[in-house]
Amino acid sequence: MESARLMRVNHSGEVAAQALYQGQALTARDPLVRSAMHQAAAEEIDHLAWCEQRLKELKGQTSLLNPLWYFGSFSIGAIAGAFGDRASLGFIAETEKQVESHLRDHLGRLSAKDLRSRAILEQMTHDEVQHGAKAASMGGKALPFPITWAMRATSTLMTRGSYWI
Ligand SMILES: [Fe+2]
Ligand SMILES: [Fe+2]
Repeated sequence: MESARLMRVNHSGEVAAQALYQGQALTARDPLVRSAMHQAAAEEIDHLAWCEQRLKELKGQTSLLNPLWYFGSFSIGAIAGAFGDRASLGFIAETEKQVESHLRDHLGRLSAKDLRSRAILEQMTHDEVQHGAKAASMGGKALPFPITWAMRATSTLMTRGSYWI
């Protein structure tokens, strides 16, 4: 039960991640940045598929709130992209940093026996660290505190909501 809830949250997180990247690709200026966004979105779709598969094995259901997370994240991504590529890359670096700490928290909460879910989260953590590092190396600039705070608040809303429904 707890594993299914946690994996539902992670599935929603990946819905939001690919939506963010797609939104950012839409408004990216530099074609290199745009193709990096598309590539990252494709990897988030892999994560999404792993979480969905695992959720099925655990007899869990995907969150009813996913359409809301999708459209919200797509819009936020498109707006972040409109602030310019360096801000947009900085947004990714910050998002992935927050996702990494979220995943590590879930690895602490998941049962030690749930090896399949753990393997998925470990691989995802590895990939998210790479996504963040790549965005930073492409010139992402650090975001001001009110923005990082708002991002944390949004993800808390998402993780709490998808935990229950
Ligand atoms: Fe991901
Ligand atoms: Fe990622």
